[in-house]
Amino acid sequence: MKNSIRKLQSLMAVGCLLPVLSSTSSSALAATSGEDTFKAKCAMCHGQDGSGNTPMGKRTKLRDLRSAEVQKETDDELASTIKDGKSPMPAYGKTLSAKEIQDLVAYIRSIAKKS
Ligand code: HEC
Repeated sequence: MKNSIRKLQSLMAVGCLLPVLSSTSSSALAATSGEDTFKAKCAMCHGQDGSGNTPMGKRTKLRDLRSAEVQKETDDELASTIKDGKSPMPAYGKTLSAKEIQDLVAYIRSIAKKS
């Protein structure tokens, strides 16, 4: 009898841990979304909102990523700018995966100015 209670307790412990584990893995996934990558790696120049309204953005006359002139570029063009860089913008092809670059392109699309 004692034994089966112990078994039950250990089963319950596993049952309690599982939701914790699955919730941490889903937040780890969210941490690699295009938005988070953008805020971590790109916002210092392009601004949190993509406007380019930063000291670096002003110095280099950055185009607003939300603007029609940037948005009219194809996904491939945007992805290759991110991958290969465009002086003075560093290339990210070695530090970001193809998936992360895709997510960034999707994020840039999502902040487009709705006109
Ligand atoms: C050191 C500052 C800097 C960082 C960091 C940076 N960029 Fe840039 N980015 C620039 C500059 C400057 C340009 C414009 C280059 C040009 O047109 O000559 C640019 C251009 C671009 C363009 C093309 C827009 C256009 O005008 O056609 C895209 C897309 C872009 N960046 C995305 C990103 C993404 C995504 C990241 C993060 C992974 C990033 N950038 C990080 C400085 C930066």
